[in-house]
Amino acid sequence: MTEGRSCPLAYRYQPASLCADPVPVAEDVIYVIGGLYGNPFALDEIEKMALAEERHGRSVKLVFNGDFNWFNASNELFRDINNRVLKHTAILGNVDFELAAPSAGAGCGCAYPEFVDQGVVERSNQIMSRLQNLAATHPDIQQRLAVLPRYQCLMLGGLKVLVLHGDPESLAGWGLAYESFAAGNQGCLDSWFRESGADVMVSTHTCLPVLWSGVVQGRPCAVANNGSSGMGNLSGDVRGLITRISRTAPAVESIAGLAVGGGLHVDLMPVNYNVSAWMEQFDRLWPQGSPAEKSYRKRIVEGASLSPGDLVFPLLSEA
Ligand SMILES: [Fe+2]
Repeated sequence: MTEGRSCPLAYRYQPASLCADPVPVAEDVIYVIGGLYGNPFALDEIEKMALAEERHGRSVKLVFNGDFNWFNASNELFRDINNRVLKHTAILGNVDFELAAPSAGAGCGCAYPEFVDQGVVERSNQIMSRLQNLAATHPDIQQRLAVLPRYQCLMLGGLKVLVLHGDPESLAGWGLAYESFAAGNQGCLDSWFRESGADVMVSTHTCLPVLWSGVVQGRPCAVANNGSSGMGNLSGDVRGLITRISRTAPAVESIAGLAVGGGLHVDLMPVNYNVSAWMEQFDRLWPQGSPAEKSYRKRIVEGASLSPGDLVFPLLSEA
């Protein structure tokens, strides 16, 4: 195994097994929160967003689909993030998996494809190593992480919502990444929706947002990848993103949205958190020259390269 480039066998699963036991959701709205990356201010804002929905009479279920740890490299912040997240439904991301029980030779467990620069991979392995040393001093948290599932199928509005971290074959798979949609992944999507029976797949892990809709065997299907809830995702936009799913459309404007099947709304919602407060803490934890500063600081304070029109597939030009 090459550290950070491949993934442990324990990350693998079969698409046909993923929706065998869907869990009914009693709440009106699901927020799927991927890639919080240890950002407590983004979590504050997400909790406020849920409260605002509840004030309008809509109950909200928070579901964390992994990588809620990453930059939270202090005892206090490590405990704080995990205690807050683990009150809710959560599945493992590769980061949380490797903190609960490090796999020999996995590095960060990101399974970075070839197009990701080797420097990024090495810095991610260094961040993971620091976090693993910290996690080892919190065995109670490690035990709570170790029992989390790798995926979960929810049932809302009569539709199966499959919550994943990576893709339907691996916890750290890149098959639902922006880059995979841009390169054309229709064949994989068809077989994954057919084999799993899911109506909606919700992913994260690969750090750029995607919203896709299509028809598989006459059945309307959708994919949402929120990119990151704890970092900016779009050009000139420092806000995080989460995936909101509900029979009711959001009361505030989403970045992008679609309706699937019997009217289930799937939207990418902005998380307008306090970036300056986070940077004050981030800079103390990850000063200049540190691996997280080199790989992520620019993105956190400036956003990524996409515009909202880039992330909705099929692209308008292909439709
Ligand atoms: Fe991940």
